[in-house]
Amino acid sequence: MFKNSPLSLRYNSRMPELLIHNTSQLLTLAGAPQRGEDLGHLGMLPDGAVLIEDEHIAAVGLSEDLLRRYPHTPHLDAAGKAVLPGLVDPHTHLVWAGDRTTEFEMRLQGKTYMEIMAAGGGITSTVKATRSADPQRLYEQTRSRALGMFRNGTTSAEAKSGYGLELTSELDQLELLLKLDDAGPLEITPTFLGAHAIAPEYAGMADEFTELICRQMLPALKEWWPQHAGLAPLPFVDVFCENSAFNLAQTRRILTAAKALGFPLKLHADEFANLGGASLAADLDAASADHLVKTSAADIRALAASNTVAVALPCTPFGLAQTEYTPAKEILRAGGLLAIASDINPGTAWCESMQFVIALACRYLKLTPAQAVAAATINAAAAIRRESEIGSLEPGKQADLLLLSVPDYRQMAYRFGGNLVETVIKKGNVYNN
Ligand code: NIG
Ligand code: FE
Repeated sequence: MFKNSPLSLRYNSRMPELLIHNTSQLLTLAGAPQRGEDLGHLGMLPDGAVLIEDEHIAAVGLSEDLLRRYPHTPHLDAAGKAVLPGLVDPHTHLVWAGDRTTEFEMRLQGKTYMEIMAAGGGITSTVKATRSADPQRLYEQTRSRALGMFRNGTTSAEAKSGYGLELTSELDQLELLLKLDDAGPLEITPTFLGAHAIAPEYAGMADEFTELICRQMLPALKEWWPQHAGLAPLPFVDVFCENSAFNLAQTRRILTAAKALGFPLKLHADEFANLGGASLAADLDAASADHLVKTSAADIRALAASNTVAVALPCTPFGLAQTEYTPAKEILRAGGLLAIASDINPGTAWCESMQFVIALACRYLKLTPAQAVAAATINAAAAIRRESEIGSLEPGKQADLLLLSVPDYRQMAYRFGGNLVETVIKKGNVYNN
C-alpha cells in the first residue's frame, strides 16, 4: 500500500474517501480572512472529524456525528492529535543556485546587508550563480527546498523569480516554478520579480532598467504566460522598493505598468528604509505588501483601510540578527489584515519551516499562537488571493491538512527547531513523515 516517493515521505495512494476522526483539536479556521484584532479565531472543534472526497473536503463535524453518518468510509484515526489546515507560505524566493555563507560570516564581523549589496554582493552574487547554473541542477536544488517546506507542513507557497534580472532567465525561472508545481506535491503560486535588483548590466542606470522592465519584460511575460501556463491565472508582479534597488517613482512606474496589463501585484516595502512603498501598495490594490519593518503610522493606516494584506517576515530580521520587526500589533490595532511568511532566500533567511516562522511571530511580533496560526493559514491564503480554495477546513475547499505529532497546536509556537508535523495531506493524498 505504501510506496516510496522521491519525498522520502511515505506516500499512501489516494483513497476516494477518507474520514479523519478522533482529533484532540480540529482547527478549522472556518470563515473569511481575519482582519485586525479579530485575528486568531481558530474555529476549533474538540474531537472534530473531516471527511475527504477525492481532492476536496466534503464535511467537517464532530467525530461522533461523522462516524455515525459515514460508517463505511475508510477511517484514519488521528489518535488524539491536533489537526489543522496545511500551512500557506505567501512569500518565498525559492529558485536560486549557490549559497551566501561567506556573506553571512561577513555580517557577523560587522558588515551590513546593504553594504554588501552596494559592493556588488548580495542579490547580484546569487543572480550570477543562478544565471550560469545547470538547469537540471537548479531544478533539483529548488525541488529539494520545496520538499523540505512540504515535510514541515507547507502545502501551498508563493514563489518568486528574481535571480535572473534579464528576460530569458526570469522566464526560465518561472518555467521551473511551473514544472515544480506540476510535479507536486507542494502547490506553487508564481510571482515575477524581475525588479528584484538593478541588473549588473544596468548598474547606475536604474531608470533605464525600470523602462526595460516596463516596455520589454512585462509585455513579453504577458504573451509568454498563456503559452506556458495555459489557463493558470497571471502571476503576481513584485518589486523590491528600497535604497539601492527601486525608488518609489520607479516602483510606481513598474507596478502601474503591470496593473495596466492585468497582473496582480505584490510589493517588498520598508525592509530597511521607509520609501512609502506600503501606502503605494495599498493605493494600487496590491494583494500584499511584505516585510514592513520601517512602516510608519500613516502607512499602517493606509494598509488597514485597504484589502492589501500586510505580510510580516520574521525570519528576515532574525536571519540578519536585527532587533527590529514588523509592528504587527499596531497593524492589528489599526484593523489591517496580517499574514506571515518565511521569505526563504539565500541572503537573509534560508528557512524551510513555517512552524519556525510561527515560533518567531509569537516571540517578536507578539502574536498569540492562535493569531500566528491564522496568519499562516487563512490570512496567508488571502495574501496570494487563494482564500476561497485553501487556508481553512470547510466543505468544498481543497483537502490540504496536517496531523501533528502532539495534541496541542500551541506546541508549534512553543517548541522550535524540530518538526511536529506527522502527516501531510495534499489534495487528498496522504504523506507520512
Ligand atoms: O526578501 N529583499 C529582497 N529580497 C530578499 C533578499 C534576497 C537576497 O538577499 O537574495 C528578502 O529579504
Ligand atoms: Fe523577499
